[in-house]
Amino acid sequence: MQIIDGKATSIAIQDELKAVVAGRIANGLKRPHLAAIIVGNNPASRAYVGHKIKACEYVGFESTLVDLPETIDQKELKQEVEKLNENSTIDGFIVQLPLPDHIDAQAILECVSPVKDVDGFHPINAGKLSIGLPCFAPATPSGIIELLDRYGIETEGKHAVILGRSAIVGTPITLLLSRNANPGNCTVTMCHSRTQNLEEITRSADILIAAIGRAHFVTPDMIKPGAVVIDVGINRIEDATRKSGSRLTGDVAMHLLEKDWNGHITPVPGGVGPMTIAMLLKNTLEATSE
Ligand code: GUN
Repeated sequence: MQIIDGKATSIAIQDELKAVVAGRIANGLKRPHLAAIIVGNNPASRAYVGHKIKACEYVGFESTLVDLPETIDQKELKQEVEKLNENSTIDGFIVQLPLPDHIDAQAILECVSPVKDVDGFHPINAGKLSIGLPCFAPATPSGIIELLDRYGIETEGKHAVILGRSAIVGTPITLLLSRNANPGNCTVTMCHSRTQNLEEITRSADILIAAIGRAHFVTPDMIKPGAVVIDVGINRIEDATRKSGSRLTGDVAMHLLEKDWNGHITPVPGGVGPMTIAMLLKNTLEATSE
């Protein structure tokens, strides 16, 4: 079993970014500045945004947290987005998801200026990605591509099977892996809740990407020997051995794989998650004016 270490790779990328920022400052150029809007008290969202702000500090970016109450209404939140669009000191920003139920999240994402949309969630960026134009690609699928690249995993002509069709992961990773690029040039099958003969399809995957949000859904019998397995799931499950009574785990039942199983796999935690932060920072650097 070969572990694809997303944590170490994320730190390596952040060290590269740190050097670029130091070079920019030495040359009198602007320090990149990322802002994040967070609404309400979702503990997981607060933790994710905290990691993003800390990573900004590490690489030498400026950061701003716009912390808004759960009770904010659609119009007020839209105004907060517009303030960031107009603030020329801010190069890129994100609106942390999920938003409260009374907010139309899609309408808010459409207010974000596409040139500051470092999450790549605006329809302009999603559309550009779909026809292969330069754009901000969402951080999680970009992180997967970066891991495949840095681990020297051959993708050309391989069968990639994607579990999940979300706008944040399943759809963009399908596009990125099918592009005429390296990594890319895969034959991609996108599976979802209505897919028939799922196990048969996953067993034919050279590269299997699980992004469905169901703990341990993918079992060893669903995996081809020697496959590359990318686990995007972050699921909280009960664990009486932990002080908190729970722990995070992936969509893949990695603990059921034999030690001598001869494929590659990303662990949870420490796989795709940390890469998402590194790629968000990369997008922010790209959004920063010369
Ligand atoms: N919620 C879960 N993943 C993400 C992400 O990549 N960006 C934002 N803004 N919210 C998220």
